[in-house]
Order: sequence, then structure tokens, then C-alpha cells
Amino acid sequence: MITTINLNPCIDKSMSVSAFRYGGLNRVLQTRSDVSGKAINVCIAVRRLGCGTECLGFNYNENGKELEETLMFYGIPYEFVMVNGKLRTNTKILDREKQTLTEFNESGGKVTDEDILHLKKVVRRHAAKSSAVVIAGSVPVGVGTGIYRELIEELAEFPVKVILDAEGDLLQEGVNASPYLIKPNLYELQTTFGSSCSTKEEVCSLAREITGRGVEIVCVSLGKEGAVICDRQDAYFAPGLDLEVKGIQGAGDSMVAGMCVAMEKGLPMQEMLRYGMAASAGSLVLEGTQMCGREQFDLYLKKIKTERIRL
Ligand SMILES: Nc1ncnc2c1ncn2[C@@H]1O[C@H](COP(=O)(O)OP(=O)(O)OP(=O)(O)O)[C@@H](O)[C@H]1O
Ligand SMILES: [Mg+2]
Repeated sequence: MITTINLNPCIDKSMSVSAFRYGGLNRVLQTRSDVSGKAINVCIAVRRLGCGTECLGFNYNENGKELEETLMFYGIPYEFVMVNGKLRTNTKILDREKQTLTEFNESGGKVTDEDILHLKKVVRRHAAKSSAVVIAGSVPVGVGTGIYRELIEELAEFPVKVILDAEGDLLQEGVNASPYLIKPNLYELQTTFGSSCSTKEEVCSLAREITGRGVEIVCVSLGKEGAVICDRQDAYFAPGLDLEVKGIQGAGDSMVAGMCVAMEKGLPMQEMLRYGMAASAGSLVLEGTQMCGREQFDLYLKKIKTERIRL
């Protein structure tokens, strides 16, 4: 069972335009609305790939029903701490020509200290039956940057592998509690750890330093270039596929889901990278924040090649 923790859910409103014009008129080619949040995306992708999963976190009294209905639709069990206020909306505009995304993210409603204590209790209760816990995304107002470190510390007494996908202080502090795996993208890696690394060898050498701080596996996604993964012994690179991208958001979340599925199957690190890459490709070819399905995953898994990086 893969448990995911989502503290800052949202509704993604995605629009596609042929070429984004700042300050000009943009004709919308396609629009859609998806319930989202990084750990929710991971949870949906894991479910679509056929593994057992559940979702924990915060949800909002005013319009949180939409989130619950989405999880029910996928048959995903959930337990949320309900917070006063409204589920936020994030607006995303995809420029199809340049394949770039412009984002307008609202901040979530305020969470109280009591809500946080309540959440930690819920997490402990579920940890006993989980094999892995995914903690991902940003946090709402009222939640400090130490929250992921605290949650990982709470989980330390359970035999669960913690996967952390966050950035900035949330990631930096989280790493101090030694999660099993982290998956920053290149920008998150550079800004969080103050490095200008760019080649895959440089990225791997910084990733290797992070494994020296108690993180078992570090995977760094490099956008269309692909991704690298390393532990204390080995490092691998997988180049990105040439895809017709229809929805950029959620690629990293699908990638985390793919790696979790490989982990559940007890596969080695190299396969975790392949599973992650195949799942991200399967998400990219779908509009908006739609997660990879089994069919796309199987198709792309055959196409992902990995190569060893010598450090
Ligand atoms: N334009 C693209 N073409 C092909 N593959 C891509 C492209 N963009 C991303 N990918 C694939 O998706 C993986 C994850 O993408 P990325 O590095 O953008 O993650 P992320 O920034 O964490 O995404 P998210 O917004 O979901 O958090 C990459 O490692 C790569 O395999
Ligand atoms: Mg990401």
C-alpha cells in the first residue's frame, strides 16, 4: 500500500494556446479543470498503474467535495483533516509552440496548529499498514517549512520508505530526516542546494553528496532531457523521449508514481528510473493535469533506455 500525503490540494484550470502573448489577446484552444495537488496526482497515477494506494492530507470545507468525488471516481480511499476555507484554483497556460507553461498559483486557506496535530495522528494511524509514504508539494498558509521533516520523523518508527518531492526549505529540512528517496527537478536541486550544476555528471555528483546525508536514492528530473538516478553505489541516466506534449504539469508526479510502483515490485534502481520515465511520458501526452494510464505506460516502458554514469 502506497500512502500519499497532500497538504495543499487545488483545482488546476489548464488552457492551451498556440503561442502565448504576454499583454495581448490569447485565443484558448482547449480548456479543462482537474483536481490536483502533487501527492494527489501521485496517488491517482499509482492507482491507474494498478497498485494499492490511499490519500491523506488537508481538504477544505467550502468546496472540498470535488476532491473527494475525484478520489471516489478512481476508487481511492482517503482521510482528510477538514480545514475552514476554500480549495484554491491554479491557472496554467500551455504555449503549444514553445511547449512552455505559464502558471498562476493561488495560496491555500489557513491551517491551524490543531489541524497539524490532527494530521500527524492520522498519518501515524495509516503508516502501520503502508509500505511507502509519498510526501509531495507545497504547504498552505499556517504550515511551517519543518513540516516534512516532522512527518518523516513521525514515520521513522514504522517500516515504510518515505519518498519526498518538495523544494526549497521544505526539501532542505526534509533531507535532514533522511527520507528514502527524493525527486527534485534540476531547478529545485540547484536552488535548494545552492549549486549551478548542469551536466548529468555534475548533477550526479551533487546527488551523490546528498546520499551521503542519509537519503538512500536521489532522482533528478531534467525536463525533456530525461532524468538521472543515483544511490551510494551506482548512477544512471535515461534520455527523454521525443513526445508530442499536450500537458506538462504532473509529469514529475507521474514519475514519482512510476518509481513507487517499481519499488512495490521490488525492482532495482535502474528499473525505478525506467518506470518513472515511462509514467511521466504517459502523462505528458495527455491534456491538462491528467495522469498516466496503464496503456500509455506499457507503450513507453518499452522505449525507455538507461545508461550507466561513471563518476
Ligand atoms: N518536453 C518533454 N519531452 C519529453 N519528456 C519530458 C518533457 N518534459 C518532461 N519530460 C519527462 O518527464 C520527467 C519529469 O519532468 P520534469 O523534470 O519537468 O518534472 P517536474 O518539474 O518535477 O514536473 P512537475 O511539474 O510535475 O512537478 C522528465 O524526467 C522527462 O522524462
Ligand atoms: Mg515536480
